[in-house]
Amino acid sequence: MEYEGLPFIDALEKLASRLGLTIPKDAQESAKAQVKLSTTAVLNRVAEFYSAQLKHHPGASHAVHYLKARGLTGTVAKAFGLGFAPAGWDNLLSHFQNDSEVLQVLEQTGLIIKHEQGRFYDRFRQRIMFPIRNRKGEVLGFGGRVIDDSQPKYLNSPESPIFQKGYCLYGIYEALKSRQKWKSALVVEGYLDVIALAQFGIMGALATLGTAMTVHHLTSLFQLVDDVVFCFDGDKAGQAAAWKALQLVLPLLVQPRQVRFVFLPQGTDPDTYVRQQGAAAFLALTENSTPLSEYFFSILSQQTPLDSVDNRARFANTARTFIAQIPDGIFKEMMFEQLAQLAASSVEVVRGEKSFRSFSSRGWKKNKVLPPPQPLAPAFLASALLLRAPHLHALASAKRPLWQEITAPGIVLLNKIVDWINEQPSITGEALHQQLQGQNAELKHLADCENRIMLLSDEGLEAEFLGALDRLIVIGRKEVTEKLLQKSKTRELTPEEKQQLKEFLQYVESI
Ligand code: UTP
Ligand code: MN
Repeated sequence: MEYEGLPFIDALEKLASRLGLTIPKDAQESAKAQVKLSTTAVLNRVAEFYSAQLKHHPGASHAVHYLKARGLTGTVAKAFGLGFAPAGWDNLLSHFQNDSEVLQVLEQTGLIIKHEQGRFYDRFRQRIMFPIRNRKGEVLGFGGRVIDDSQPKYLNSPESPIFQKGYCLYGIYEALKSRQKWKSALVVEGYLDVIALAQFGIMGALATLGTAMTVHHLTSLFQLVDDVVFCFDGDKAGQAAAWKALQLVLPLLVQPRQVRFVFLPQGTDPDTYVRQQGAAAFLALTENSTPLSEYFFSILSQQTPLDSVDNRARFANTARTFIAQIPDGIFKEMMFEQLAQLAASSVEVVRGEKSFRSFSSRGWKKNKVLPPPQPLAPAFLASALLLRAPHLHALASAKRPLWQEITAPGIVLLNKIVDWINEQPSITGEALHQQLQGQNAELKHLADCENRIMLLSDEGLEAEFLGALDRLIVIGRKEVTEKLLQKSKTRELTPEEKQQLKEFLQYVESI
């Protein structure tokens, strides 16, 4: 059901038929199938009626004229089954007046409407009719366009058990019929966009029925094709629709599915564009369409500029919640990589899988609140701080003898970085990073620390740096204390050593 966007029974039947089995239907189910069959059979007859009116009804000439003026040929009108609902209240009604079963279906599908006095009248009057068909070509409902400027511009069949707008894609039958002529499906906004593109030989265009896109539309699309291009107006509404479509499509992006976006110049739709610029220009647009990844990151970085650590953190946090919805696989990984790059962070951090844990009565929970500060190896922390703000090194020099020879993890790295800055006081954090390339084991710890300090202000950095140095000095003093204690077991300490031991013991105990 999920994969193909099918109702339960249809999914079951599809599986069964693949295995050469038939599903025994209970009476109720077969009755339902029967009803559906007869409903679509009636609607197909209605479509035939409307299309005959377009050809023969004396009042149809301005409809024909209108379609021609919009550049449509008879061939394309026929391919899409276009029709005409003449003026008057009872054209459809009187055509089927002797068939009560048909009339019942017309009522159920909203093609005739019951008047207060119990009489019926036609829903569609004086409109160009667009039959909406499923992939088998069964008519499920209609859209009707006015020929003048009256309102509403389009009227659609109401929803019914067989016509659910959230599932239907206009043009799907025609797209399937011409399947060998197109590679990627093109999602557009209007019926006439689909038809105009077909008129220009661009097949595979589909439209929702004036409703917002749903996940069912998308699953249905991906049954046909792996490549989908969304084509939207360049205006605000188009942007909003595109972002909505992006959100819906993320969970469906298993390999090798791909989604791209085209934004048309403001005030144009595919119909006007292809007429003004021609098919080649339109195809060029689709060929140069924006990949989902690019669109995604450009929208997010418009919302949250990447100009500060604080903003990059917010950016990463927002992006992560979206990317997390992509099914596991290469695309998801690459999106995280791209995010890490843009946020100037690491994949691990932007994934949010680092030790962002909190303790609750039930135990450790992931990703609920900010991490409780875990003690970081101070030498790595100090190194990370220097990479972020090399000028801090001025604070390190005076007390360097107190820590530079200790055996803490990361101390070699820290000494290296301090030396580099000493040699070249104006060196940037970036240049330091470059010099560090290749020291992979060390870099991992460093990256952890860099992420931890991501949100610190300048004062915060300085305080952290002094704190890290203090901790190194404590380690240094503990080591000296330990050594002196060991020495004292083998020989008598000199008075200076005794003095130092006393001082250091006091110091270490006071921490
Ligand atoms: P548009 O207003 O963009 O119309 O509506 P369009 O497709 O460009 O049509 P033309 O070129 O003016 O003839 C896009 C789609 O929104 C739905 C229809 O499905 C239409 O194709 N719609 C629009 C309605 O359902 N009702 C309306 O009143 C207007
Ligand atoms: Mn239009």
